Amino acid sequence: MSLGKIIDKANNDLFKRIDKQKVPEHVAIIMDGNGRWATKKGLPRSFGHNKGVSVLKEIIRASNKLGCKILTVYAFSTENWTRPTKEVDFLINLFTEVLKNEIKEIHQESIKIKFIGDLTPLPETLKKTIYSSESLTKNNNAFLLNVCVNYGGRQEIVKVAKELALKSSSGEINPSEVNEELFNSTLLTQGINDPELLIRTSGEKRISNFLLWQLAYSEIYISDVLWPDFNELEFLKAIIDYQSRNRRFGGIESLPNGSYEDSQCTS
Ligand code: FPP
Repeated sequence: MSLGKIIDKANNDLFKRIDKQKVPEHVAIIMDGNGRWATKKGLPRSFGHNKGVSVLKEIIRASNKLGCKILTVYAFSTENWTRPTKEVDFLINLFTEVLKNEIKEIHQESIKIKFIGDLTPLPETLKKTIYSSESLTKNNNAFLLNVCVNYGGRQEIVKVAKELALKSSSGEINPSEVNEELFNSTLLTQGINDPELLIRTSGEKRISNFLLWQLAYSEIYISDVLWPDFNELEFLKAIIDYQSRNRRFGGIESLPNGSYEDSQCTS
């Protein structure tokens, strides 16, 4: 059997093990390890980022096929500006080129693309490409791809706090009206449910300022695989692991009929 056929069979076997009724609607991904992948192979870090793009395409396809509805990926954090100028320029150029080359196919697949973050400091060419891609795909409804660029979770929370403080001081809202619901509807991710699952590759066990508010109750799956080596098989493993979790949201496990037993209370 060829390597391709073995991989297809492994993917199909895992695919069959997935409970299609319990597929997460929204998956968030910290795509980490591009630089290490390249360095290990004696290549410039840019090779890792290039390979990372093809992995992202594979994961968009896999999650769409599985029935996920939203994928939110961390492409460039507010902290990534501290990288050497050459790497920052490479990444900015990569985003522009990938978007220009892929937008036709993204649109054909009825994928809506949105960019999340403070886009103000990005170069005009990238901003133009972002705005035209968002506008072209705004009515698509098969799948939502959120790309976080110049994004920081703390910065997002401060932005919401400022907006609500301004509305309070101008009398548009009463401070007593500030609650989780209003906060949620002022976030950059307004209108979509929080991710049920966060995947981080490369073995790092940190959230790194990603979706701090939205990940409050997400299940976290850490994969030791570096992002350029991540693939559909690894993604399916993450989904199977997620399906084995018992999500309690701070409560306790209920009995199969949905009730609770007094004996479950130990003190
Ligand atoms: C983290 O690896 C990866 C990034 C900072 C960039 C991720 C970007 C892509 C995969 C391209 C996506 C493209 C589009 C258009 C959305 P790292 O460089 O931090 O790796 P390291 O931890 O090994 O140094």
